[in-house]
Amino acid sequence: MAGTRTSIHGEWSSRFAFILAATGSAVGLGNIWKFPYIAGQNGGGAFVLVYLICVALIGIPIMMAETMLGRRGRQSPINTMQSLAEEAKANPNWHFLGWLGVVAGFLILSYYSVIAGWAGAYVVKSVSGDFSGASAEVTSSLFGEFVASPLQLLFWHTLFMVSTMVVVARGVQGGLEKSVRFLMPALFVLLLIMVGYAMSTDAYGQGIAFLFAPDFSRLSTSGILTAMGQAFFTLSLGMGAIMVYGSYLPSHVSIARTSVIIAGADTLVALLAGIAIFPIVFANGLEPGSGPGLIFQTLPIAFGKMPGGAFFGMLFFILLVFAALSSSISLIEPAVAWLVENKGMSRRRACFWSGFVTWLLGLGTVFSFNLWADFTLFGNTFFDVLDYLTANIMLPLGGLLLAVFAGWIMKQRASKDELSDEGVLVYKVWRFLIRYVSPVAVAIIFLDVIM
Ligand code: PHE
Repeated sequence: MAGTRTSIHGEWSSRFAFILAATGSAVGLGNIWKFPYIAGQNGGGAFVLVYLICVALIGIPIMMAETMLGRRGRQSPINTMQSLAEEAKANPNWHFLGWLGVVAGFLILSYYSVIAGWAGAYVVKSVSGDFSGASAEVTSSLFGEFVASPLQLLFWHTLFMVSTMVVVARGVQGGLEKSVRFLMPALFVLLLIMVGYAMSTDAYGQGIAFLFAPDFSRLSTSGILTAMGQAFFTLSLGMGAIMVYGSYLPSHVSIARTSVIIAGADTLVALLAGIAIFPIVFANGLEPGSGPGLIFQTLPIAFGKMPGGAFFGMLFFILLVFAALSSSISLIEPAVAWLVENKGMSRRRACFWSGFVTWLLGLGTVFSFNLWADFTLFGNTFFDVLDYLTANIMLPLGGLLLAVFAGWIMKQRASKDELSDEGVLVYKVWRFLIRYVSPVAVAIIFLDVIM
């Protein structure tokens, strides 16, 4: 018998609805914007391999744990951790793990929104024909001029934040379930078209080799940490997003199966994005390690050359904005759910305040690319610091603690009860991974970087 609590915020209409929402959370800028550029910065193949191993051995077990904890607690991550700690007669301070997640969510969303805003601006640029026939120099300077303008970034960041808060205010289950249902497959098809274009360039083989032929001499210790951080980031793990979605999951849905499906879809999208982008990078003599602007410098070249490129470009960036939107709502949902539960706020009010705080924080990222570009900490801008702190430290730390809680603190009776539909073997494998493999791997990678 799984847990008997119910959530005051409602429940997904079906297993499929949960898969859609969680995939919507997982698939986003992390796959299409971040994965290619950090793979490029960290030398390609070996980085990709470590990332894939992290997804399988750390990501999937932790995703199962987060979903399970959420479903058993049926509240915002902070309150869920509190009641599960009580249930396990453990230290009540475990609820601070929920807080760690809420803070990470705010920090991530603050820059996520700025980058999603870039995608929004690129919808307009595609339509207005800015990319037609553009060379690599042209797209690079277009991007450079764009991010140099604080006002433009501010405008798009504001627009994106307002849209996020409007969707969240309406409740996660309503509009979202429906929109993800057809936008995700559409994004997938468009990525396939981009891969088709990449195949037509003469650097397709070079792009594939860069992504899939591991050369470990190009992977540093910090690259390994980045690969692990990316596994957490791209799967939305370690901060309560999947936990809060799990809290709306009907009982008796197989958590193992849904986790494998979600992680599989997410990984596929990231790899397709890489396969679409690197051939364009090499065919046009661009630098794979050029950083956060990578997709904005490469894809427009392709849109500028292919027939119907203005249309496909527009469609691609619109879908990217929607993919980002379905991720950003899960970044803020833990905070909103808590404000509603504990502060008695209406959903709308909770959205307004959390959105406002995030928007304000986002100004730091807006200015990182222009006014404050020289204002750095060991050569890192405000944006770089936020990105490192959240993806490489807070999410893996949150995930490590979640694994410890699910594997060691929670009574085995409780986790067995919650995962009773999985079959004995699946449960045993999961329990082994969550106790010995995931937390130890995260700890070793952390120690490796510190020492
Ligand atoms: N997984 C999302 C992406 O890849 C980002 C995200 C991280 C969402 C953490 C929620 C929680 O774009």
